[in-house]
Amino acid sequence: MNKGTAIYPGSFDPPTNGHLDLIQRGAKIFEELVVAILRNSEKSPMFSVAERADMLRELTSDLPNVRIDTFDGLMVEYAKSIEATCVLRGIRAISDYEYELQMALMNRKLEPTLETVFMMPAVNYSYVSSRLVREVAQAGGPVKGLVPEIVEQKLREKLDPAYKLQPELIEVPKKRKKKA
Ligand code: PNS
Repeated sequence: MNKGTAIYPGSFDPPTNGHLDLIQRGAKIFEELVVAILRNSEKSPMFSVAERADMLRELTSDLPNVRIDTFDGLMVEYAKSIEATCVLRGIRAISDYEYELQMALMNRKLEPTLETVFMMPAVNYSYVSSRLVREVAQAGGPVKGLVPEIVEQKLREKLDPAYKLQPELIEVPKKRKKKA
């Protein structure tokens, strides 16, 4: 079945296991899925747009019909420019519903031909959000299992630049045996 191009817009600061789960599900039902990172977010981000795009590219390198892009301004305008017919968004819990409904209806008002499709991420990730991941990581807590490993490592590097110099990451030359 040809379901055309869908856009999965968001901030992805940073990408979580919930985002990745949704991308994998979306990639199965759409011909092409464009993960689109908002560039002009008012929030002061932890990761630059380029860093987020790099992480997402690495995480989706095994999904041939997934493309990573960035956009500015109105999402519906960007969707139109790439001829996307659907917007994919995740709903984790009822608490997401109100905001998502408002956004979907506003987007429909702006562009009636663009459909919003909601999908649920795996239940294990129903409490995972980028905001909470940032909060936990900034306070020094563990984020294992909440974000992919490469994101976990980037978080450590971002929050503790000395992490790069940790002994287990440095290849220590083996000591030579003394001659008898
Ligand atoms: O991951 P987020 O931060 O919940 O994503 C929100 C996002 C980027 C999808 C939304 O803020 C958006 O589409 N912004 C672009 C500007 C726009 O089109 N606003 C009208 C949406 S109703």
